[in-house]
Amino acid sequence: MKIPTKEEMKTLFRNRKSHSLRYQVKEKNKVAPRGNSSFGGATFLFEERRDFMITKPKGCHDIYGIEAKKWKYIDRLIDEVCTRYGYQPIRTPIFESSELFHRGVGESSDIVTKETYDFIDRGDRKMTLRPEGTAGVVRSYLENKMYGDATQPVKLYYNGTMYRYERPQSGRDRELTQFGVEVLGTDDPMIDAEVISIAVNIYRLVGLKGIKVNINSLGDQESRNQYRKALVEYFTPHIDEMCEDCKVRLEKNPLRILDCKVDCDTEIMKNAPIILDYLNESSKERFEQVKKYLGLLDIDYEVNPKIVRGLDYYDHTVFEVEAMVEGFGSQNVLGAGGRYNHLVETLGGPSTPGMGFAMGLGRLLLALEKEEIKLPIEEGIDAFVMYVSDTEKDYAVTLVQELRMNGFQVETEYTGRSLKAQFKQADRLKSKFLLLLNDEDLKNNEIKIKNNQTKEETLVEIDYVMYYLEEMLEQVEVDDGSCNQEDGCCCHSDEIDDRKI
Ligand code: HAM
Repeated sequence: MKIPTKEEMKTLFRNRKSHSLRYQVKEKNKVAPRGNSSFGGATFLFEERRDFMITKPKGCHDIYGIEAKKWKYIDRLIDEVCTRYGYQPIRTPIFESSELFHRGVGESSDIVTKETYDFIDRGDRKMTLRPEGTAGVVRSYLENKMYGDATQPVKLYYNGTMYRYERPQSGRDRELTQFGVEVLGTDDPMIDAEVISIAVNIYRLVGLKGIKVNINSLGDQESRNQYRKALVEYFTPHIDEMCEDCKVRLEKNPLRILDCKVDCDTEIMKNAPIILDYLNESSKERFEQVKKYLGLLDIDYEVNPKIVRGLDYYDHTVFEVEAMVEGFGSQNVLGAGGRYNHLVETLGGPSTPGMGFAMGLGRLLLALEKEEIKLPIEEGIDAFVMYVSDTEKDYAVTLVQELRMNGFQVETEYTGRSLKAQFKQADRLKSKFLLLLNDEDLKNNEIKIKNNQTKEETLVEIDYVMYYLEEMLEQVEVDDGSCNQEDGCCCHSDEIDDRKI
């Protein structure tokens, strides 16, 4: 090995110094105006460290605190509503074989051509993080031979994360959460209306006012073939004026052109033929039936012939629920779905009709925020157990456990705080009652319980603590973040009468 010269050593050292984090921080601290921040030099150290910190991927979110509680609330509402409608929960893998989405969602869909997260696993298999839930549910329906179940149709619902490599913006994420339902085994138009009504009723129950349901029919295969021909005839003379993607779509799947985000405002697009003019008699009749059932279910809707949906598997009914609240931005489709009578066959199964939808829960929460709707989320705990001495602490450990096992929400002290600080902590946690353990009282088999709202104190015999708390808690006012709706929301609805779903 060549030994460096003195000069070379100097340069080496200088370079190394300038790359060393400690050296940089020291240098910065030299010129740092002291007192500019409460942490002085520590801020710089932290700032420097930030460059080394790992952050979440683009288009993803950390959900915690009150936000996480809102998500939980929606999850529970979904479970409750789906149970009432007779839908069974299903969980499918977050990643599936890539072929499932290529065949299911469609080779020509934007999702498959541009947005999937694909990877090769260690066994050299092509895998994809699910971009949507329908393909996975249908795969599971087939693999588990649910078409042979005694109870038909099969009605399923899911609530989970999906992954799409899209350009992130408000309401458009790369990791998104969808709640969706799928009904397999019936072509009855009544189910189309029921599925749409589930989406609408969830929005109604959380209190959203500004929603609009757009429906359309893509008809059966015969109608779509006629329509496809008409589209090719119409768009071919304009091919040079269309975007590059649409040129490909014209050849592969002309219906996709109507979904184009680039050309959507052009005159050519606006004057394009509409599918409703190409529906055959049976498709028209079917669409009329869907509309009739929507009317019976009291669902307001508008027929919008421009809706074709971005996934290839649809036929007959398609729908989108739009958020009408101001300031929502371009990603205003809260939920969408439709009928897919050929997907099961496409994936290798017996001819089985299907119908479903999915709603983005992130967008739902965004809509609630825009409409300034507060969910009735109860904050606070039932009781905080306070102690000072070691013997009191020992008693606290068992008491807290017993209360928790009996259904009370209980907290206690974990960091050796003074009694005064424990009072503050209990206030921060919005504790309704304080259980003040005291060696003297314990010797007498008693515990002092303080109502943290009225400040009233009562000595209660240990054996009765649980009964006492239960009774007193019923009398305490619920602080649920107060609902600001007059009616129609989850609190004021007769349909969901228990506020704590
Ligand atoms: P989709 O229209 O692709 O349909 O997505 C449904 C909903 O998921 C959208 O209306 C939107 O609320 C939400 N969503 C989609 N992409 C994003 C994103 N990047 N960021 C945030 N939210 C998003 C489907 O996925 C079909 N599987 C629906 C279906 C079920 N059709 C039949 N059954």
